Amino acid sequence: MIITIDGPAGSGKSTAARKLAARLELPYLDTGAMYRAIAYAVIASGIDMKDEAALLKIAQLTELQLDCGPTFTRVQVDGHDVSEAIRSMDVSAVTPYVARCQAIRDLLVKRQQQIGRELGSFVTEGRDQGSVVFPNADKRFVLEAGLEARALRRFQELTADAEDVTIEQVRENLQARDHVDSKQWEPLLNSGNAEVIDTTHMSIHNVIDHLVAAVSKTPTK
Ligand code: DC
Repeated sequence: MIITIDGPAGSGKSTAARKLAARLELPYLDTGAMYRAIAYAVIASGIDMKDEAALLKIAQLTELQLDCGPTFTRVQVDGHDVSEAIRSMDVSAVTPYVARCQAIRDLLVKRQQQIGRELGSFVTEGRDQGSVVFPNADKRFVLEAGLEARALRRFQELTADAEDVTIEQVRENLQARDHVDSKQWEPLLNSGNAEVIDTTHMSIHNVIDHLVAAVSKTPTK
């Protein structure tokens, strides 16, 4: 069974996808982690993040290794585990420049489809999973939430990881990313048959219960 969960940062999709995968005992593919890992390599290389040709070169040369467990996706860049490092605000700020480069998207989409073939059954999370990468998935969800709720969730995640940020910085970072990002993935998110869930006023438990109920009613293809 293939389940896709797409949505913007802070919509609750990462937590929802992880918890759903754990409940269903399926591997979990975090595709944002792949874009973040390339951004990490871009920062390490010191190249200009607006130079698309240089970005693509880094993406082609970087050796990405993914380990998709039911509650995590661990990521290695050129043999180094960067699973935690790719969550920093610096990496978050550079990732949209990577994600808007179509040639890099093409590269990562192919890689995601290859991982999908190897896994067979899985829960995957991103922006384009239901629309572009796995349009034949058994169940496709899009999670949405208002900016304030998304900023608060992201702030809580970052401060839990001891990152020194204010809610204002997180809100500005989200707004800036939405600005760069949204042209890229907004048309992708609204892919027609996905079930759209507004999580602004829902607890994560409500979201999971909803997803589990919807999946249990879904006939497998
Ligand atoms: O979900 P996230 O915050 O980890 O995503 C990080 C970045 O990658 C964000 O800028 C959106 C982008 N992304 C994308 O364009 N397509 C995906 N399938 C997943 C993430």
